[in-house]
Amino acid sequence: MKIAMIGTGNVGAPLAQHLAEAGHDVVLAESKEGSRSLESALKRTPKLQSRPLTEAVAWADVVFVATPFGAHESVLGPIASLLDGKVLVDCTNPIGPGLTHGLGSERSGSAAVQAMVPGAKVVKAFSIYGFENLEDPRYPGYDVRPTMMFCGDDSGAKATVATLIDGCGFEPLDVGGLVQALHLEHMTLLWVRMVRVHGHSPHIVWAALERPRGR
Ligand SMILES: NC(=O)c1ccc[n+]([C@@H]2O[C@H](COP(=O)([O-])OP(=O)(O)OC[C@H]3O[C@@H](n4cnc5c(N)ncnc54)[C@H](OP(=O)(O)O)[C@@H]3O)[C@@H](O)[C@H]2O)c1
Repeated sequence: MKIAMIGTGNVGAPLAQHLAEAGHDVVLAESKEGSRSLESALKRTPKLQSRPLTEAVAWADVVFVATPFGAHESVLGPIASLLDGKVLVDCTNPIGPGLTHGLGSERSGSAAVQAMVPGAKVVKAFSIYGFENLEDPRYPGYDVRPTMMFCGDDSGAKATVATLIDGCGFEPLDVGGLVQALHLEHMTLLWVRMVRVHGHSPHIVWAALERPRGR
């Protein structure tokens, strides 16, 4: 799969590495002049390369956005038409003061993203844990993989993203349409407050245990 990664910091860099190591063609989008994070992400593996933002997005089948929520207008605005028909994986979270929902819980960040890029097939994924778990998704001693919940309105796009989640070492769990993104963003806040405020390990993740019906 041809994947463009916009944002190459804590979230974008490890995801780009895992996706490239899983055999995908991954290009880091040059979204910011002189970006240090892009320079250091390129050093992770020779399998990664970079290209100017518009070129990377035009080339890709799947585009990840992992930049700060506040940068969406400047990052996504100019490439909105290039995203028509493409899968856009929204890894971002709107975080407000005091670790609150950045849009006052009135609508999700992903709904705001979808409104900015109406032709894209937005799937919210890779958003519910801190970056530590994106860096290393292995949990030795457990016979279940960490769950990565995702949501979106296009079933084909979700099938694609489920494959990518699996390739990054997580158990994909489709939680429904993009309307569910608001709840995933609250789950993120729950995780962030547990870990960053209340002292839980940053390597705490969720697992989904599902008993077959009728048993
Ligand atoms: N941190 C987490 O644990 C975590 C977990 C899940 C989701 N998220 C979400 O993922 C997103 C990225 O978080 P992060 O922790 O990876 O942030 P980060 O480490 O600060 O990386 C942000 C990336 O976006 C680039 N960037 C910043 N401002 C930009 C702009 N105006 N235009 C274009 N590119 C810009 C940065 O480039 P430079 O390095 O050159 O500044 C960097 O590559 C956020 O929306 C966050 O809410 C974070």
